[in-house]
Amino acid sequence: MIGVFDSGLGGLSVLAAIARALPSADLTYFADTAHVPYGDKHDDFIRGRVLTIGRHLVAQGCRMLVVACNTATAHAVTELRHAHPGIPVVGVEPGVKPAAQGTQSGRIAVLVTEATARSERLRQLIRTHAGHVAVRVQPCPGWATRVETLNLDGAEFAAEIRAKVLPLLDAGVDRIVLGCTHYAFLKPVLEPLVRGHAELVDVADAVARQVVRLGGEREGHAQLRLLATARPERLHAALAPLGLGWLAERAANATLVTP
Ligand code: DGL
Repeated sequence: MIGVFDSGLGGLSVLAAIARALPSADLTYFADTAHVPYGDKHDDFIRGRVLTIGRHLVAQGCRMLVVACNTATAHAVTELRHAHPGIPVVGVEPGVKPAAQGTQSGRIAVLVTEATARSERLRQLIRTHAGHVAVRVQPCPGWATRVETLNLDGAEFAAEIRAKVLPLLDAGVDRIVLGCTHYAFLKPVLEPLVRGHAELVDVADAVARQVVRLGGEREGHAQLRLLATARPERLHAALAPLGLGWLAERAANATLVTP
């Protein structure tokens, strides 16, 4: 059983990539919906939640953990690995490296939560992989919460997205990294905006490949268990509107858990 978790719906983009790469794997998805978003929380709080969720998933029989959240990875993946030395832990980090390798203009941008924006781990990632390009780190407060509502249309939100993204294009950015797993679900809004100017960079498939490399289970029964810390009925109901109806067929309604 592979345990995949996030603050809410965002990590479903990673879960879907894993389910595509390992069609028989048994998966548990944990949405910490009582505490979403993580992006506006303190570092210690995020760390505490990650360790608590990790313990819960391991106690439930998970033998691999996927932190399907850039914010949680930035603040707590190291501690989570220390807490479970016998269990492979896969984190999600913004695709700064592929963006820096692919840029023609020498300018990239990274869309992230506020908590990821201030993290030392992101600074380190940029130093390591993008020393030779100009990097704009763009915090996007409120975007993950908006994805949670599943209401991605609306003039006000479209204007908010344009206000963040158009200045990046004006600055010559030609790669825009989706540095929060929630933002994968904003592709239908973002793609038309950046077309012809920039490419979006999402790492969900790369994370799934890492899960396969680390021995993610191939021989399961394609079961999917959904867990949520609040409003569990919304988790299963969100799959189809997010384009993941094929996953909904595998899962019963989500169970409320309160670790
Ligand atoms: N989906 C998460 C991430 O990748 C967290 C978003 C949030 O809860 O603020 O950063």
